[in-house]
Parts: sequence; structure tokens; C-alpha cells
Amino acid sequence: MGEMIESIAHQWRQPLNIIGLAVAEIEMKRSFGLLKEEEIEKNSTIINNNLAFMSNTIDDFRNFFNTDKKSVHFDPIGPIHEIFALIGEQLRYANITYRIDEQCHKEIFGVVNEFKQVILNIVNNAKEAIKSKHNSTEGKIDVILRCDATHFYIDISDTGGGISPSIQERIFEPYFTTKLHEKGTGIGLYMSKVIIEKHFEGLLSVSNNREGALFTLSIPLGRE
Ligand SMILES: Nc1ncnc2c1ncn2[C@@H]1O[C@H](COP(=O)(O)OP(=O)(O)OP(=O)(O)O)[C@@H](O)[C@H]1O
Ligand SMILES: [Mg+2]
Repeated sequence: MGEMIESIAHQWRQPLNIIGLAVAEIEMKRSFGLLKEEEIEKNSTIINNNLAFMSNTIDDFRNFFNTDKKSVHFDPIGPIHEIFALIGEQLRYANITYRIDEQCHKEIFGVVNEFKQVILNIVNNAKEAIKSKHNSTEGKIDVILRCDATHFYIDISDTGGGISPSIQERIFEPYFTTKLHEKGTGIGLYMSKVIIEKHFEGLLSVSNNREGALFTLSIPLGRE
């Protein structure tokens, strides 16, 4: 719930600013007797567009957390784009850029919302690692989607400095966290591993690359 409110607050910050400026402009021009018909029209459009964006944000979140538990065939790219649309504003605010490299389009089988939850957990961890990295003011998250004849692979890497080898074995344990009490429960990766390995019959693994952590999901194709 806290994360959800934080996300909405981030998505709303910019449109609220713009609406505020549009209203201020109208008020200022009116007080000087300079308010023209076109000006009202222009600012109404700006205000309406931004209100629509804010209203969409709420719908996105409502759909995102609906409890549809039906397994279906789906191309992972759609849900991945949805996640980045949802938290894009938070990433921008933290100076984090991202790249999604779609090397293939195939369908996997499972519950879409569970898959989204996994991607959100991993990307949130990446964001938090980048933000808490010493001496760094920006970062990058890289997503690669690739396939072979039997599997769909999703690589998610970040520039957050990586995971020290001494705890790499433990990060998938329930309640294992290095974050302060109110910042983390240590449930995210445990839940993600259960979803990918039990529900999607795949594998979730981690390694470090030059600049940070690399999480790889490997999900079998052709399940019914
Ligand atoms: N991309 C990453 N870079 C560096 N460390 C990471 C990364 N992802 C996970 N970790 C480490 O793994 C630990 C466990 O992650 P996990 O998502 O399970 O829990 P959490 O993020 O601490 O809490 P939450 O339950 O809120 O997700 C983190 O506390 C962190 O130390
Ligand atoms: Mg986490």
C-alpha cells in the first residue's frame, strides 16, 4: 500500500505542477485585464490533459492490483512495458534511465499479475540499489528479452553496485533483507522465486556484472 501511494504521488507531482502553473497564469492575466479567450482555451486544454493523465494513473494501479488468477498465454513484453510505465516517473526522478531490448516475441504461460509482481520486485530492488549506492547520482536498468527453442529468458541488470558474494546465497530466503526496518521486509525476491520456479516452472538466478546485479528469469515455452 505504501509503495502504491508513493508511486501515485510520483506520477502526480509533474501534472499537479503544470495545472498549478496554468491556473496561476490565468489568474495573473485576469488581474492585469489581459486574459484573452484563446488563453482560457489553451490553459483549459492543458488542465484537462493533465487531469486525464492523473485519472489514468489511478486506473492503471487499480487494474494492476486486480486479483485475476487465471493462467493464460502471453508475451512478456506487454506486462514489462506496463511496469515501466507505472514507475517511469519514479525512475526519472531518481535519474535512472532504462532500456528494453526486445530480441524475440513468444508466449509464456501463467498468471500475468504474478509475472508483473516479479518484474516490479526486481526493478524496485534495482532502483533502490542505485539510489543507495555511494557517490552516485544516476543509474541505468537494462532489460533484455531473448529466446531459444525451449525457453524465454529475461535479463534485468542495473548499475547499483551488485550484491556482495557473502550474501548472494541468502537473498532469496524469506525475510532476508539488508534494508532498514521500514524500508524492506525481505519478501520480494523470495516471492519472486516461488512464482517463477513453482508457478512458471522456470528458474530465477542472480549474478554480478561489472556495474551491478544481473537477475535472469528463464521460463520454459510450450506449457499448457
Ligand atoms: N539489484 C540489487 N542490487 C543489490 N542488492 C540487491 C538487489 N536486489 C536485491 N538485493 C539484496 O537482496 C536483499 C533481498 O531482496 P528482497 O527484494 O527479497 O527484499 P528487500 O528488497 O530487502 O525488501 P522487500 O520485501 O521490500 O522487497 C535486499 O535487501 C538487498 O540486500
Ligand atoms: Mg525488494
